[in-house]
Amino acid sequence: MRVGVLTGGGDAPGLNAVIRAVVRKGEKAYGDVFTGFADGYRGLIEGKALSLTSEGTRGLLPRGGTILGTSRTNPFKVEGGPEKVEATIARLEIDALIAIGGEDTLGVALKLSERGIRVVGVPKTIDNDLSGTEVTFGFDTAVQIAVDAIDRLHTTAESHNRVLICEVMGRHAGWIAIQAGIAGGAAYILVPEREFDIARVCDSLVERHDKGRYASIIVVAEGAQPKEGSMVVQSGETDEFGHVRLGGIGEVLAREIRQRTGFDTRVTVLGHVQRGGTPTAFDRVLATRFGIAAIDAVHEGAFGSMVALSASKIVRVALAQAVGRLKTVDPDLLEVAEVFYG
Ligand code: F6P
Repeated sequence: MRVGVLTGGGDAPGLNAVIRAVVRKGEKAYGDVFTGFADGYRGLIEGKALSLTSEGTRGLLPRGGTILGTSRTNPFKVEGGPEKVEATIARLEIDALIAIGGEDTLGVALKLSERGIRVVGVPKTIDNDLSGTEVTFGFDTAVQIAVDAIDRLHTTAESHNRVLICEVMGRHAGWIAIQAGIAGGAAYILVPEREFDIARVCDSLVERHDKGRYASIIVVAEGAQPKEGSMVVQSGETDEFGHVRLGGIGEVLAREIRQRTGFDTRVTVLGHVQRGGTPTAFDRVLATRFGIAAIDAVHEGAFGSMVALSASKIVRVALAQAVGRLKTVDPDLLEVAEVFYG
């Protein structure tokens, strides 16, 4: 078979490991020929393609980013986009497409599959907000990077008697914040799933410092919202999928805590560091398993599906199930975190 591969949306550690696994298994077991599309759906629209071989994908396992490049291009927002995608697929005689991405990329994959394109999806995002799978690859690495940063923030916070706020990514889900916050021993964790009360946050800090603890780490998800109206500073810019660029809540929070408590409060915004660099062992293995399962799904004709993790096993779910609803943080995890507040 001639199989196309693309990576879309924000990059995540493990993308290259998926590509390597798809190509290795596909060539070895099925004699497939692979075409990679550059920069996500943009490559498919513009016909920007390159050959992918086992030889050419050697050494990719630990490498972050994606050798194919990525973008947030939405073919359904481009004039004649879907038709151009279909034309590229016909011209290059692509029998099936493997789309590696998050909610947006797989949402487009679903629409393309409804138009008759034979697509299999692979779940990627550091945000872990995709339904249908217990976890996405990239998430474990992002959490580990955030925990490493929080561990470092602890020692400097203690030396200076400060409140240090660590703003993490995650869009409208608090998975990175809650996992990194629990693992990093945060004094408070703010997630989009639960609007926060700034007075309670400050009371908890004061109580904690009264007990003789002179430093605190607060982990805040970029999408966290305060109860009394919006404090979030947003650029207002949106991408082709209509998502507002988030960020800035950490600074607003710091200002408020300084004013209300008088504590010296500073902010670290982790930003794209969370997406860069080498994947953890967990993400390398998960990405490899997903890649192998995706090419197997192609050969078993399981189009319109996404490979997923369920109870430690790789399964297939309908693309519609994956993109229908955002997977948000389990309230049980919030309760675990709360035990350590104050
Ligand atoms: O979806 C992954 C993600 O890293 C989000 O956590 C974040 O809000 C967004 O992408 C940032 O996107 P960009 O790199 O396009 O600014």
